[in-house]
Amino acid sequence: MKGLLPGTFDPPTLGHLEIIQRAAKLCDFLYVAIGESSKSSSSFTIEQRRDLLAKLTEKISNVEIISFSGLVVACAKKVKADVIVRGLRSESDFNYEYQMAAANRQMSGIETLFLMASPAYSHLSSTIVREIAREGHRLQGLVPDDIESMVLAYLRH
Ligand code: COA
Repeated sequence: MKGLLPGTFDPPTLGHLEIIQRAAKLCDFLYVAIGESSKSSSSFTIEQRRDLLAKLTEKISNVEIISFSGLVVACAKKVKADVIVRGLRSESDFNYEYQMAAANRQMSGIETLFLMASPAYSHLSSTIVREIAREGHRLQGLVPDDIESMVLAYLRH
Protein backbone atom coordinates (compact mmCIF):
# COMPACT_ATOMS: atom_id res chain seq x y z
CA MET A 1 0.00 0.00 0.00
CA LYS A 2 1.34 3.45 -0.98
CA GLY A 3 0.42 6.29 1.39
CA LEU A 4 0.41 10.04 0.95
CA LEU A 5 0.78 12.12 4.11
CA PRO A 6 0.07 15.77 3.20
CA GLY A 7 0.68 18.74 5.48
CA THR A 8 2.19 22.19 5.72
CA PHE A 9 4.97 21.16 8.15
CA ASP A 10 5.71 24.84 8.87
CA PRO A 11 7.91 23.63 10.61
CA PRO A 12 7.73 19.88 11.28
CA THR A 13 7.14 19.05 14.96
CA LEU A 14 7.61 16.00 17.13
CA GLY A 15 3.94 15.34 16.49
CA HIS A 16 4.49 15.20 12.75
CA LEU A 17 7.48 12.88 13.15
CA GLU A 18 5.45 10.50 15.29
CA ILE A 19 2.70 10.28 12.66
CA ILE A 20 5.25 9.85 9.85
CA GLN A 21 6.98 7.00 11.74
CA ARG A 22 3.70 5.22 12.43
CA ALA A 23 2.39 5.72 8.89
CA ALA A 24 5.66 4.41 7.41
CA LYS A 25 5.16 1.16 9.36
CA LEU A 26 1.64 0.78 7.93
CA CYS A 27 2.53 1.55 4.31
CA ASP A 28 4.90 -0.23 1.94
CA PHE A 29 5.89 3.26 0.77
CA LEU A 30 4.99 6.69 2.16
CA TYR A 31 5.13 10.06 0.41
CA VAL A 32 5.31 12.97 2.84
CA ALA A 33 3.87 15.81 0.79
CA ILE A 34 4.52 19.47 1.64
CA GLY A 35 1.61 21.67 0.62
CA GLU A 36 0.68 25.30 1.04
CA SER A 37 -2.00 25.83 3.67
CA SER A 38 -5.14 27.48 2.41
CA LYS A 39 -5.41 29.07 5.87
CA SER A 40 -2.15 31.01 6.26
CA SER A 41 1.10 31.96 4.51
CA SER A 42 4.18 29.92 5.40
CA SER A 43 7.09 31.01 7.57
CA PHE A 44 9.47 28.45 6.08
CA THR A 45 10.12 28.02 2.36
CA ILE A 46 9.24 24.76 0.63
CA GLU A 47 12.99 24.05 0.31
CA GLN A 48 13.55 24.65 4.03
CA ARG A 49 10.65 22.38 4.96
CA ARG A 50 11.92 19.75 2.54
CA ASP A 51 15.38 19.93 4.16
CA LEU A 52 13.88 19.63 7.65
CA LEU A 53 11.71 16.64 6.72
CA ALA A 54 14.56 14.97 4.81
CA LYS A 55 16.74 15.23 7.93
CA LEU A 56 13.97 13.79 10.10
CA THR A 57 13.26 10.85 7.81
CA GLU A 58 16.79 10.04 6.62
CA LYS A 59 16.72 6.75 8.55
CA ILE A 60 13.25 5.71 7.35
CA SER A 61 13.90 3.81 4.13
CA ASN A 62 10.35 3.76 2.71
CA VAL A 63 9.68 7.51 2.91
CA GLU A 64 10.10 10.14 0.18
CA ILE A 65 9.60 13.88 0.68
CA ILE A 66 7.75 15.66 -2.10
CA SER A 67 5.94 18.98 -2.45
CA PHE A 68 2.76 19.88 -4.26
CA SER A 69 0.43 22.74 -5.05
CA GLY A 70 -3.26 22.48 -5.76
CA LEU A 71 -5.42 19.59 -4.59
CA VAL A 72 -4.20 16.75 -2.42
CA VAL A 73 -6.11 14.25 -4.55
CA ALA A 74 -4.32 15.42 -7.68
CA CYS A 75 -1.01 14.81 -5.93
CA ALA A 76 -2.25 11.42 -4.69
CA LYS A 77 -3.20 10.39 -8.22
CA LYS A 78 0.14 11.61 -9.60
CA VAL A 79 2.12 9.39 -7.23
CA LYS A 80 -0.48 6.59 -7.42
CA ALA A 81 -1.12 6.65 -3.67
CA ASP A 82 -3.68 4.12 -2.43
CA VAL A 83 -4.57 6.12 0.68
CA ILE A 84 -4.19 9.58 2.20
CA VAL A 85 -2.89 9.54 5.77
CA ARG A 86 -3.66 12.28 8.31
CA GLY A 87 -2.89 12.73 11.97
CA LEU A 88 -5.72 13.69 14.32
CA ARG A 89 -4.90 15.54 17.55
CA SER A 90 -8.22 16.30 19.17
CA GLU A 91 -11.91 16.75 18.56
CA SER A 92 -11.18 20.24 17.24
CA ASP A 93 -9.36 18.65 14.31
CA PHE A 94 -12.19 16.24 13.56
CA ASN A 95 -14.74 18.46 11.82
CA TYR A 96 -12.18 19.99 9.45
CA GLU A 97 -10.58 16.63 8.72
CA TYR A 98 -13.99 15.01 8.18
CA GLN A 99 -14.83 17.62 5.53
CA MET A 100 -11.47 17.24 3.77
CA ALA A 101 -11.65 13.43 3.79
CA ALA A 102 -15.23 13.43 2.48
CA ALA A 103 -14.41 15.93 -0.27
CA ASN A 104 -11.28 14.03 -1.26
CA ARG A 105 -13.18 10.71 -1.36
CA GLN A 106 -16.02 12.27 -3.38
CA MET A 107 -13.56 13.72 -5.90
CA SER A 108 -11.30 10.71 -6.25
CA GLY A 109 -12.56 7.68 -4.36
CA ILE A 110 -9.34 7.81 -2.32
CA GLU A 111 -9.89 7.04 1.36
CA THR A 112 -8.20 8.86 4.23
CA LEU A 113 -6.57 6.86 7.02
CA PHE A 114 -6.55 8.72 10.36
CA LEU A 115 -3.90 8.11 12.99
CA MET A 116 -4.65 9.45 16.46
CA ALA A 117 -1.80 11.62 17.75
CA SER A 118 -0.26 10.43 21.01
CA PRO A 119 -1.42 12.48 24.02
CA ALA A 120 2.18 13.59 24.52
CA TYR A 121 2.04 15.54 21.26
CA SER A 122 -1.63 16.36 20.86
CA HIS A 123 -1.09 19.92 22.14
CA LEU A 124 1.62 20.67 19.58
CA SER A 125 1.24 22.81 16.48
CA SER A 126 3.65 24.56 14.16
CA THR A 127 2.20 27.93 15.21
CA ILE A 128 3.18 27.31 18.83
CA VAL A 129 6.67 26.25 17.74
CA ARG A 130 7.09 29.36 15.60
CA GLU A 131 5.96 31.67 18.43
CA ILE A 132 8.30 30.08 20.97
CA ALA A 133 11.20 30.10 18.51
CA ARG A 134 10.63 33.78 17.66
CA GLU A 135 10.95 34.59 21.38
CA GLY A 136 14.38 32.96 21.28
CA HIS A 137 13.49 29.95 23.44
CA ARG A 138 14.80 26.43 22.93
CA LEU A 139 12.51 23.99 21.09
CA GLN A 140 13.31 20.84 23.05
CA GLY A 141 10.23 18.68 23.45
CA LEU A 142 8.56 20.54 20.56
CA VAL A 143 10.66 19.64 17.52
CA PRO A 144 13.06 16.69 17.13
CA ASP A 145 16.53 17.54 18.44
CA ASP A 146 17.99 16.71 14.99
CA ILE A 147 16.40 19.79 13.46
CA GLU A 148 16.15 22.27 16.37
CA SER A 149 19.18 24.29 15.27
CA MET A 150 18.00 24.28 11.64
CA VAL A 151 14.57 25.59 12.62
CA LEU A 152 16.04 28.37 14.77
CA ALA A 153 18.56 29.32 12.06
CA TYR A 154 15.90 29.41 9.33
CA LEU A 155 13.66 31.65 11.46
CA ARG A 156 16.53 34.05 12.19
CA HIS A 157 17.17 34.69 8.47
N1 COA B 1 1.14 16.89 15.57
C1 COA B 1 1.33 18.21 15.72
N2 COA B 1 0.76 19.16 14.96
C2 COA B 1 -0.05 18.74 13.99
C3 COA B 1 -0.30 17.38 13.74
C4 COA B 1 0.34 16.44 14.59
N3 COA B 1 0.14 15.13 14.46
N4 COA B 1 -1.14 17.30 12.70
C5 COA B 1 -1.40 18.55 12.32
N5 COA B 1 -0.76 19.41 13.10
C6 COA B 1 -0.83 20.86 13.06
C7 COA B 1 0.12 21.44 12.04
O1 COA B 1 1.37 21.72 12.63
C8 COA B 1 -0.60 22.70 11.67
O2 COA B 1 -0.30 23.64 12.66
P1 COA B 1 -0.35 25.22 12.28
O3 COA B 1 -1.75 25.45 11.78
O4 COA B 1 -0.06 25.85 13.60
O5 COA B 1 0.70 25.46 11.24
C9 COA B 1 -2.08 22.32 11.79
O6 COA B 1 -2.14 21.21 12.64
C10 COA B 1 -2.72 22.00 10.47
O7 COA B 1 -2.09 20.82 9.97
P2 COA B 1 -1.53 20.72 8.48
O8 COA B 1 -1.87 19.36 8.02
O9 COA B 1 -0.12 21.10 8.42
O10 COA B 1 -2.29 21.81 7.65
P3 COA B 1 -3.73 21.68 7.02
O11 COA B 1 -4.63 20.96 7.94
O12 COA B 1 -4.08 23.02 6.56
O13 COA B 1 -3.52 20.73 5.75
C11 COA B 1 -2.99 20.61 3.47
C12 COA B 1 -2.54 21.12 4.81
C13 COA B 1 -1.96 21.02 2.45
C14 COA B 1 -3.10 19.07 3.53
C15 COA B 1 -4.38 21.20 3.16
O14 COA B 1 -4.27 22.59 3.23
C16 COA B 1 -4.83 20.78 1.78
O15 COA B 1 -5.38 19.69 1.63
N6 COA B 1 -4.56 21.65 0.77
C17 COA B 1 -4.83 21.31 -0.63
C18 COA B 1 -6.26 21.67 -1.06
C19 COA B 1 -7.10 20.43 -0.92
O16 COA B 1 -6.83 19.40 -1.54
N7 COA B 1 -8.10 20.52 -0.03
C20 COA B 1 -8.88 19.33 0.32
C21 COA B 1 -10.06 19.18 -0.60
S1 COA B 1 -11.35 20.23 -0.08
